[in-house]
Amino acid sequence: MLYQTLLRPLLYCLSPEFAHHLAFFLLRMVYRVPLGARLLSAFRYADPALRVSALGKTFENPVILAAGFDKDAIGFRELSTLGFGAIEVGTLTGQAQPGNPTPRLFRLPKDRALINRMGFNNRGSADAAGRLAAPHTVPVGINIGKTKSVPESGAIEDYVLSTRLLAPYADYLVVNVSSPNTPGLRALQSIDSLRPLLAAVRQEILKVREEPLPLLVKIAPDLANEDIDAIAHLALELSLDGIIATNTTTTRDGLNTPDAVVELCGKGGLSGPVLERRSLEVLRRLRSIVEDRVCLVSVGGIETGEDAYRRIQAGATLVQIYTGFVYGGPSTPGQICRKLARMIRHDGYANVEDAVGHACSTSRPDS
Ligand code: FNR
Repeated sequence: MLYQTLLRPLLYCLSPEFAHHLAFFLLRMVYRVPLGARLLSAFRYADPALRVSALGKTFENPVILAAGFDKDAIGFRELSTLGFGAIEVGTLTGQAQPGNPTPRLFRLPKDRALINRMGFNNRGSADAAGRLAAPHTVPVGINIGKTKSVPESGAIEDYVLSTRLLAPYADYLVVNVSSPNTPGLRALQSIDSLRPLLAAVRQEILKVREEPLPLLVKIAPDLANEDIDAIAHLALELSLDGIIATNTTTTRDGLNTPDAVVELCGKGGLSGPVLERRSLEVLRRLRSIVEDRVCLVSVGGIETGEDAYRRIQAGATLVQIYTGFVYGGPSTPGQICRKLARMIRHDGYANVEDAVGHACSTSRPDS
């Protein structure tokens, strides 16, 4: 409430990127003052019915903070206090890079959407590794991508370098081949490129860790349906642990914001509720092919407990949010969890895991 009425209007006076850094800084500062962490944890909602076993870990709830918010792994402990079931840091690249010139992040408040062309601004995998080595209380996923200056022919080596540096500290590792803001990156989603890339990353994981590390791939919503199906089949062939669907879209369809305003933002990936339909469609396609043999993580347009529940019923074991958190503020993960727990019980399920893949509430176990 305080966020929506006081802090958010103030943040709206600032550029979206500066507002992000300021809000994130304030969160980290509050965490450090006496009783600060206790204060922040008042936002969370804990319920054993929300507990999920997936990817070899226990998640206290299925709501994960999506990649891109904590790119450099500087505040995952503080963010987890707000009640996320896990934090995905990154995208981290083999080498540090500044990203695209600013402005590169835009609000579309009429659509509760964002357009970004950040371009993987980050301090590099080696820099983040030190911070990630510290113990953490919730699972931390690490999302890796390609350094912009590395040519496509060197892409595998760049991902392998990040894997070498970061795999020791990850609870799961995500190969991101779906950002629209690094030229050529999305071409890595073609099966012929993806197969050797995932094989090389997996090989490197075996070299640097004794315990298994779940490997996931994050895909774009703009792929043709046949390409989505091909990735699902590849995931089965390679016994991949999971697929994260989806990243932002380069399309601009379905927005309420006037075209002229959207055009002024320029290129970049669009996120928020406008992504919901395609993200759900991609999830259903994937689920129909991989069934329950690959963990599906749904992301794109999730803002509420109802949205999260719909994904879970469509077969997502875990969900992620980014834009919904930016617009909803620090209480968002707790609110989603509270509603989710209520809906699950209302439909007669014992817990989230029970509800996964039941496409509508009429398929209740007891009905
Ligand atoms: C992102 N996203 C993203 N994804 C990723 O894999 N690596 C990244 O570095 C980023 N960076 C990033 C920055 C900004 C400003 C935004 C808004 C988004 C994509 C994000 O993780 C998510 O997949 C999409 O935003 C869709 O989910 P939401 O935002 O609709 O919940």
